[in-house]
Amino acid sequence: MVATLLAIFSSFSSEMAANNERSFIMVKPDGVQRGLVGEIMKRFEQRGYKLVACKQMQASKEHLEKHYADLSSKGFFKGLVTYMASGPVVAMVWEGKDVVKTGRKMLGATNPLESNPGTIRGDYCIDVGRNICHGSDSVESAKREIDLWFKPDEIMNYSACEAPWVYE
Ligand code: RTP
Ligand code: MG
Repeated sequence: MVATLLAIFSSFSSEMAANNERSFIMVKPDGVQRGLVGEIMKRFEQRGYKLVACKQMQASKEHLEKHYADLSSKGFFKGLVTYMASGPVVAMVWEGKDVVKTGRKMLGATNPLESNPGTIRGDYCIDVGRNICHGSDSVESAKREIDLWFKPDEIMNYSACEAPWVYE
């Protein structure tokens, strides 16, 4: 009896741990201006992911240079930083199983003309320099980006009541 309970508890806790992956998702200034914040959040909510942090802010160029540091040698870097600093963004952390990889699939290809219909970029934008949303490209990038955009006490730890209906 005790062994059975321990086995159930241990499989439950390893499942839960696997469901705690986090991704940094952001609605870019064009997404905010075009009234797409709700639509983008809705897709992550309806998929079953859990929102654990969210704030609107206008980021400084210095902050965005850190966020996109790996692209600093690219010709489009200056324009990218100017675009991203041009208005408020909505920064979010979403949590759930495989959310980094799945989040990227939900956003679609970087160039919206190559994004499949049904993805966020494939449904709502056209130009690569106005592609309305950002998603972390790896678990390591997600950790770095979440640390850059959020203080620890801005990230919520709570159980979503729907969890047993999303995960088996
Ligand atoms: P993001 O980081 O914003 O989620 O986009 P991503 O991973 O799909 O693409 P990444 O290579 O990280 O590029 C970051 C953002 O830079 C702009 N970009 N412009 N003109 C260009 O050729 C070009 N390439 C990239 C896009 O806004 C892209 O999302
Ligand atoms: Mg990227």
